[in-house]
Amino acid sequence: MNIAFFSCHPYEQPFLDAANHNQRHTLTFLTDSLSDETVQLATGHEAICVFVNDQLTRPVLMKLAELGIHLVALRCTGYNQVDVPAAREFGIRILRVPAYSPHAVAEHAVALLLSLNRKTYLAYQRTKQNDFTLDGLMGFDLFGKRVGIIGTGKIGAAFARIMLGFGCRVLAHDKIRSALLQQLGVEYLPLSELLAEADVVSLHCPLTPDTHHLIDEAALGQMKHGAYLINTSRGGLLDTPAVLRALASGQVAALGIDVYELEDDYFFADWSDKPLPDTDLNALTHLPNVLLTSHQGFFTRDAMEQIAHTTLNNLTYLEQQQLPADCIVVG
Ligand code: NAI
Repeated sequence: MNIAFFSCHPYEQPFLDAANHNQRHTLTFLTDSLSDETVQLATGHEAICVFVNDQLTRPVLMKLAELGIHLVALRCTGYNQVDVPAAREFGIRILRVPAYSPHAVAEHAVALLLSLNRKTYLAYQRTKQNDFTLDGLMGFDLFGKRVGIIGTGKIGAAFARIMLGFGCRVLAHDKIRSALLQQLGVEYLPLSELLAEADVVSLHCPLTPDTHHLIDEAALGQMKHGAYLINTSRGGLLDTPAVLRALASGQVAALGIDVYELEDDYFFADWSDKPLPDTDLNALTHLPNVLLTSHQGFFTRDAMEQIAHTTLNNLTYLEQQQLPADCIVVG
């Protein structure tokens, strides 16, 4: 198959080439992200492959159909960026990578939590300037603390196991309860009870109309005063202005985020030589009790290999009519 890869950074290309080694696809790598303006670059291809912040909006999907392209492969798990009804209307099949190293994202969530708690990101800056003081760097033992996990699917479960290993009491909220996690000692609670009891809240559920701004003013008010909040899932789970107010009041003591609701315009690009027009993002990057990374939870060698293999296998399996059901977003 002849495939155009949008938003394809040089660090991804070797993984895709390696995964294609024993397959017969023709890969065109484009660094441009997919938009109304760039969709034309797909001309002449049978399929396109996009990443997490490429917006598959109705106009883009309509244009793809006009170009005769009826197949989109997502190199990610979440598909909140896809206008699913429009894809169905225009007869465009959407495939995804249902799972790739949940450990990569879970471990990144742990990294954010540990760094925020023990202030290693502040200590690093201090010792670079030969400042060896400890003032302001005090953390707390995670051992024995209550960690609340919202969404105990693949990533949430991996995060839960790590936190159990730290000796934390793990609380969880999900529509589907994992019997395995319960056997390991995880306690499922209604959301309001989890928020009221947890010293740390970590989000691992998908962004859907139901979970949009799940953590809003009311939810923040239910949280334990001084709790830590971690979000490696999707930015739209947080009402960012409300979270900024909670940080200012101390209701949330620290925030670790790998995602931001309006990240599409900023993440994966270098803005270091110009001011950020987004005042909320500007506040987040400057607050000392906020640790923000730009959607790098997935970014391990192991995960990149799996993403590349599953993406190209999906296209091969589709040709052979053997595509696993959990890879299909729109069939
Ligand atoms: P998954 O589908 O295995 O698990 C999601 C869990 O959330 C399911 O158990 C589901 O029942 C639960 N859930 C759905 N709605 C809920 C609600 N209202 N309240 C509580 N739980 C709810 O997904 P997986 O693989 O664990 O990924 C989770 C999310 O992580 C993805 O949707 C994606 O947004 C994010 N992600 C982030 C990455 C990054 O690089 N930062 C990379 C990959 C995924």
